[in-house]
Amino acid sequence: NDLAAFVRGLPKAELHLHLEGTLEPELKFRLAARNGIELAETTVEQVRQTYDFHDLTSFLQVYYPAMRVLRHAPDFHDLAYDYLTRAHANGVRHVEMFFDPQAHTSRGVPFDTVVSGYRSAIVRARREFGISAELILCFLRDHSAEFAMATLMEALPYRDWIIGVGLDSDERGNPPSKFAAVFERARGAGFLLTMHCDIDQQDSIEHIRQALEEIGVDRIDHGTNIVEDERLVAVAKEKGIGFTTCPVSNSFVTDQMKSTEILDLLDRGLTVTVNSDDPAYFGAYVGENYLRLAEHAHLDRARLIALAENSFRASWLTPARLDGYL
Ligand code: ADE
Ligand code: ZN
Repeated sequence: NDLAAFVRGLPKAELHLHLEGTLEPELKFRLAARNGIELAETTVEQVRQTYDFHDLTSFLQVYYPAMRVLRHAPDFHDLAYDYLTRAHANGVRHVEMFFDPQAHTSRGVPFDTVVSGYRSAIVRARREFGISAELILCFLRDHSAEFAMATLMEALPYRDWIIGVGLDSDERGNPPSKFAAVFERARGAGFLLTMHCDIDQQDSIEHIRQALEEIGVDRIDHGTNIVEDERLVAVAKEKGIGFTTCPVSNSFVTDQMKSTEILDLLDRGLTVTVNSDDPAYFGAYVGENYLRLAEHAHLDRARLIALAENSFRASWLTPARLDGYL
């Protein structure tokens, strides 16, 4: 319909997207067949039935095991290339994509295989349809700080291919402060910094405070719980921190899109953006996230334009490239 075409036509950046969360059932089968891996499921419908969650933990329990079909560089290439093709069809011009190297190196897949596969897809998509893409290395927060530091050391030779570092996976009992030394070292090496502060997790306000004031992040992923703390809202606004919210993902992990919080922050002048998180698992690419939010919160076109402009403002594009979009 009309609004869908309008949203598709809006130039957008996507800033909160896990490459491993773009594994569609069809590709899962193709990769399993190519790599001689037996799957418990035999049809796309059966795989889709396993993509059914009620909270972060139940999501992660399906998410990590599915990655075993990713073995060789062409597998990582195909995953990223398929996503970039879909993002382009959604009107995405620029994307900053998370990946979880530890979920692969811990299974014996070399770091270089993962990064080289993703990088080749970025170069190809840029050449074929002009989309620009960057990689953000996420550390798994439910693993040790030592494992994260070792992973950062592995990433240093690939600094030109990786724009920043993030923190994802199970937040319970794994605060930002656990990784303070890792993020300090990453900043020193020239990486930009972001972190998940997932919706309604235990101690989410304290985690947002640590991310902003102890780590000094450049951006926060999710983070809409900040509305509960006026002082932190002021700090985030003053620092110009971008928030990468994910309405459809929120509706799985909690049972709400958190549209009230998203609009509250937007109307208070914070740099709030809309993103898809793990679109293959939550069944909605970025355009659908704008649409579902618009429907649910009765957003007018001016608000949708503001959200799309914010996606560039909160991005890590250089000022010269940013100029072309605003
Ligand atoms: N890994 C992939 N998606 C995630 C999310 N929404 N929160 C934490 N870890 C994740
Ligand atoms: Zn995420």
